[in-house]
Amino acid sequence: MPDKHPSAALSVSGLSFAIGGTTLIHPMSFEVKTGRRLVVLGPNGAGKSLLLRLCHGLLQPVAGQVHRNDHHPAGRRAHAMVFQMPVMLRRSVFDNVTHALATVGVPSAQLRSRAVEALNRFGLTGFSERPARLLSGGEQQRLAIARAWALRPDLLFLDEPTAALDPSATRLIEAMLGDLHAEGVTLMMSTHDLGQARRLADDVVFLASGSLVEASEAHRFFNDPQTHQARAFIAGDLVW
Ligand SMILES: Nc1ncnc2c1ncn2[C@@H]1O[C@H](COP(=O)(O)OP(=O)(O)O)[C@@H](O)[C@H]1O
Ligand SMILES: [Mg+2]
Repeated sequence: MPDKHPSAALSVSGLSFAIGGTTLIHPMSFEVKTGRRLVVLGPNGAGKSLLLRLCHGLLQPVAGQVHRNDHHPAGRRAHAMVFQMPVMLRRSVFDNVTHALATVGVPSAQLRSRAVEALNRFGLTGFSERPARLLSGGEQQRLAIARAWALRPDLLFLDEPTAALDPSATRLIEAMLGDLHAEGVTLMMSTHDLGQARRLADDVVFLASGSLVEASEAHRFFNDPQTHQARAFIAGDLVW
């Protein structure tokens, strides 16, 4: 049974975002509960990527706020993000991890051991010296997750991490996310894939046209959706 009163790893209140006078994220409020997997679900163009970027602090809201519960031990990163298309430096797999660690101030004496640990953790040890950009899409996404995990985040944002991957690579990434969840990492990930949301979500934030349409516990969202838009999406009718 889910915890009835879990604390919030992240609280969004009255958050909105606009570019050039066009509101792209309409005011919304919700919480990401500690230790849970929140899936931001919605069709293409719903505002999923913008919302994750706002939550990670890559974009500044025009109103409202994102409050992250940043009480984490020294040497840990509060939050990290994995993008739909992994961004790899023109360096080895190993150096991509050590560079990320150095960027957030991990002491140089710890870089090697933390990179070794992360690559080992995600089955990438044999790839260490290869140029990261020559890995397959699935391998690059595994590396992106290993690199993010190496930062020891309490909260990991993932923006459609499997959208560009084939089914077997997708299943591998989903299994890795399951392991991270079991370790206690809070996950906030987006997808337009209903099947993936059903497999992974503890909680759902359903977006359409830049608005939060429905936010609820996943079981309720899928079995007893409260809005006609959610019902239509679950039925596979993208009619708006
Ligand atoms: N920099 C931008 N300038 C103008 N419109 C944007 C910009 N970024 C995103 N949008 C628009 O905002 C909407 C939501 O985009 P996005 O968050 O990428 O959707 P999703 O990730 O759900 O597919 C889309 O209509 C998109 O065209
Ligand atoms: Mg997107």
